[in-house]
Amino acid sequence: MNPIHSDSIMVFALPHLLVLLLILLPISSIAQNNGSVTVGNSLTATDNTTSWLSPSGEFAFGFRPLNQTDLFLLSIWFDKIPDKTVVWYARVDNPVPRGSNVKLDADNGLVLTGPQGDELWTANTIVGTVAYGVMSNTGNFVLQDSSFNNLWESFKNPTDTLLPSQIVERSAGVVLYSRQSETNFSKGRFLLKLQDDGDLVLNTINLPTDNANDPYYNSETVASVNDSGTAGKQLVFNNSGYIYILRENNQTFRLSQVKPDSTADFYFRATINFDGVFTQYSYPKTSNANGSWTSLWSIPENICRATVSNSGSGTCGYNSICTLKSDRRPKCDCPMGYSLLDPNDQYGSCQPVFIQGCQEDKQDPGKNLYYFEVLINTDWPNADYAFLKPYTENQCKQSCMEDCMCAVAIFRLGDSCWKKKLPLSNGRVDSSINGGKAFIKIRNSSSIPPLGPHFPNNPESRKKNQDNLILVGSVLLGGSLFVNIILIVAICVSVFFIYHKKLRRPMSNVNSSETNMRFFTYQELVEATGGFKEELGKGAFGVVYKEAIEMGSSVPVAVKKLYSLVQDNEREFKTEVNVIGQTNHKNLVRLVGFCDEGLQRLLVYEFLSNGSLASFLFGDLKPSWKQRINIAVGIARGLLYLHDECSTQIIHCDIKPQNILLDNYYNARIADFGLAKLLMMDQSQTRTAIRGTKGYVAPEWFRNMPITAKVDVYSFGVMLLEIICCRRSVNVETIEEEKAILTDWAYDCYREGVLDPLVEHDVEVLNDREKLEKYVMVAIWCIQEDPSLRPTMRRVTQMLEGVVEVLVPPCPCPFSRTVTMS
Ligand SMILES: *[C@@H]1O[C@H](CO)[C@@H](O)[C@H](O)[C@H]1NC(C)=O
Ligand SMILES: *[C@@H]1O[C@H](CO)[C@@H](O)[C@H](O)[C@H]1NC(C)=O
Ligand SMILES: *[C@@H]1O[C@H](CO)[C@@H](O)[C@H](O)[C@H]1NC(C)=O
Repeated sequence: MNPIHSDSIMVFALPHLLVLLLILLPISSIAQNNGSVTVGNSLTATDNTTSWLSPSGEFAFGFRPLNQTDLFLLSIWFDKIPDKTVVWYARVDNPVPRGSNVKLDADNGLVLTGPQGDELWTANTIVGTVAYGVMSNTGNFVLQDSSFNNLWESFKNPTDTLLPSQIVERSAGVVLYSRQSETNFSKGRFLLKLQDDGDLVLNTINLPTDNANDPYYNSETVASVNDSGTAGKQLVFNNSGYIYILRENNQTFRLSQVKPDSTADFYFRATINFDGVFTQYSYPKTSNANGSWTSLWSIPENICRATVSNSGSGTCGYNSICTLKSDRRPKCDCPMGYSLLDPNDQYGSCQPVFIQGCQEDKQDPGKNLYYFEVLINTDWPNADYAFLKPYTENQCKQSCMEDCMCAVAIFRLGDSCWKKKLPLSNGRVDSSINGGKAFIKIRNSSSIPPLGPHFPNNPESRKKNQDNLILVGSVLLGGSLFVNIILIVAICVSVFFIYHKKLRRPMSNVNSSETNMRFFTYQELVEATGGFKEELGKGAFGVVYKEAIEMGSSVPVAVKKLYSLVQDNEREFKTEVNVIGQTNHKNLVRLVGFCDEGLQRLLVYEFLSNGSLASFLFGDLKPSWKQRINIAVGIARGLLYLHDECSTQIIHCDIKPQNILLDNYYNARIADFGLAKLLMMDQSQTRTAIRGTKGYVAPEWFRNMPITAKVDVYSFGVMLLEIICCRRSVNVETIEEEKAILTDWAYDCYREGVLDPLVEHDVEVLNDREKLEKYVMVAIWCIQEDPSLRPTMRRVTQMLEGVVEVLVPPCPCPFSRTVTMS
């Protein structure tokens, strides 16, 4: 159809429609079920409670049941949107119980009473006598007298949300308060208001008072020196979906230059979110069930950076780290070694899961009390007590390490070192830090002071040779009084079960039938060892102990004690353990069972006697070329299985020789898989904490790139070179400079066509030169900077097995675009 033609029809029809509307309007506002309710009507909070609908059916007024509680919220919501987004609610201290009632009252407008008739809330400041309540098509619930004068409007008493056609008058002193959380409607920490001076501000407040701190956003719409007309007088959300400040001189100041879509096709709202971000959202009207609210714009630009440093923790709690998501809302994470104070409050404060203090350190003087977790572009401004310059990175680390007051050291700008103390506030990831490093001091597990009868602080175990690590991890056990109490309760409960119920059978509250996994009680694991005596190793995920467990006959097992999870989610743990338990491949270490009691999460693995690939490869006796080939292919097959062939894809994230174990026949068995996921990393997104081990981690960990199975391919490539050359990937001490970084040196050798020095002129290898060359090429393919250039593990396996040809690899150097060859 000709668009010009259809437009002209619209223009022609419009005046007639308007006339029709004007005729219909008074009728519709009187008629019942058409938005208008007469005095005396009431609603009761029950499951199948009715509500008062707007004529269009788009807005409803009434009681909304709150999830998983028997509580209700008196509110206005978008009735045609599946999740019934709430746009206004009666601000009562708590949601109201079932059986509560709201009545349209001539004198008080709306009266909300509890099931016993106790008055909970009224629509106050009514002057006149109410005759009707009208749920209008704009989402405004209006109380009118018999002459249709408005006596009260929900638009004039907003909670946290504004709608198109809603105007906030400066003179009315209206304030929008955020909620506590997405689902808790109590008054939160953030407010939006048009100040007396005309400035629109966002503030944090010091609950329970309304006392506001310095604004973390302001529009600067104040009177200027020579023109008082520039002060803002109204915050307007107009009918076309624009939000602006109207100044005294009637000029407008738009909060954003984003052009909203048509109000005919989209719903709009603007909400001060519980995290302090004021956002305008849109929702397609025609989307049926699969729509969602899309953020059009928000203020402030970056909430992680915005909140004022001397007024509390920032948008996230203390010791937490704020990352800005793509919708400009914050994400809060505890750093490694810290866990949520309230596991249900992701945005709350984090506490260290270890004890740190000068007193504690003095009790246990030793060299390696702590280690550092490094975060890039992370800072907690204003928590520092010392600024040291000029310092090298090592001096900075050492200074913090030796200082019992230091919790975190920040090193950046090449020579500047800040030492920080707890609690840390306003933590954020911020690319403007330009690669600055945060060194977070975490206590080594074995030097955690004793917490209870079953946590021997065994100085022997601390001295165990790190080269004999079987599995690698580090345990961080809760150190607070609360954790201790939980622990003692957990132990008492298990003792009770064992001695009174003789319950020595596996507890089968997990669907372990399909996985043949055994459920161990914590007490069983403690008893089997006399309290975790023989420590085999520790590292990123937990401490590993050797034990003998009664399983028919006495079978040696390795028990890994996980440090408390970032987000203690019981169901998550069971799911992940089940995923690990369902794996079954000859190149993987088998999970025999697990223990999940309170804060105690332990995994029980089969024990492999020949130690790790690291000690095999870098020990005194060099393994044969044949053995090494067998190991390389075995690891590739194991990884292929994890990536492609088990029911849920598992990305290992920490492939290195210390995590490869060898069985009696020197077959490679991958250990520690599935744990990265278990420790709550979001595998599809970039994150604050880099997992994995220096020297083996793929470049995308340091960039703003998604983490995929290709990170394992990268680490495998590095390790393959180590297997070929029998040396560590980074060796600064003993070799000439050009050989220090194995990946660089190997590529140089390959490009020059001289592989002999790589294998130290080993005759056995050089007799198999073709395979050597092929393996080096495969490794170079795996360590490509660009993840998409790296082959999949299936391809790698095929290349190693000689099923497919190996093409000439490009340079693995950063940012190479051209394929070079010699
Ligand atoms: C509401 O549901 C209850 C039971 O679910 C039923 O007994 C009652 O009649 C319903 N009330 C209305 C008004 O439909
Ligand atoms: C909401 O949060 C407040 C303050 O933290 C708390 O007192 C209240 O119990 C919470 N309400 C609900 C329903 O969880
Ligand atoms: C809303 O505001 C915008 C920007 O100031 C303006 O272009 C538009 O005409 C206004 N719409 C209405 C319905 O007032």
